[in-house]
Amino acid sequence: MEKLRVPALSYAMETLHVLNHGGLLLASTDKGGHYNVMTIGWGLLGTLWRLPFFLVAVRPSRYTHGLIEATGVFTVNVPAKGMEDITDFCGSVSGRDVDKFKEKGLTALLGKNVKAPIIAECPINYECQVLYKANIQREGLHEKIVEAIYPKGSYHTLYFGEILTAWADPDAKERIPL
Ligand SMILES: Cc1cc2nc3c(=O)[nH]c(=O)nc-3n(C[C@H](O)[C@H](O)[C@H](O)COP(=O)(O)O)c2cc1C
Repeated sequence: MEKLRVPALSYAMETLHVLNHGGLLLASTDKGGHYNVMTIGWGLLGTLWRLPFFLVAVRPSRYTHGLIEATGVFTVNVPAKGMEDITDFCGSVSGRDVDKFKEKGLTALLGKNVKAPIIAECPINYECQVLYKANIQREGLHEKIVEAIYPKGSYHTLYFGEILTAWADPDAKERIPL
């Protein structure tokens, strides 16, 4: 099915719903064009500096972290109903050990504006370019977050990805698990 280019924030509600119910798929690439995908459950979608942004939080221990550091781009893909096993898998196995695209039969489409792939099977896709990043610091962070999330450190890096292109399948709304 042909994907349609859509305004960056037009599927924000659907995207945030899935982010909070199972997670989204963040895809990235190494400089040699080998793709990786990991599940994310935390992120923000909105406007900053007059631009549409997807902010994602990636721990330095993830294989994905090094790929975003090296390329400065990523995509966020909203899985459809029935893809729950894929989000579980991509959230528990590392691309250091397994080719997750191959293992799960995911189809990588070339992004229009970024080198990272979008995932054909996902009905909504965002191509993002990192315009800013911030490493979360212990200093300034509320104690309840330190206790709940960072008892062992390993603070996330926040990547502020400008949404350069957003895509949706024509039947995206019916295929999202709302
Ligand atoms: C539902 C769910 C949500 C997750 N959200 C995040 C997240 O927002 N940030 C993060 O760094 N890891 C998150 N993870 C963990 C990574 O997806 C997991 O460590 C993954 O194996 C990393 O893959 P990689 O090493 O190929 O990058 C999540 C896992 C699950 C199952």
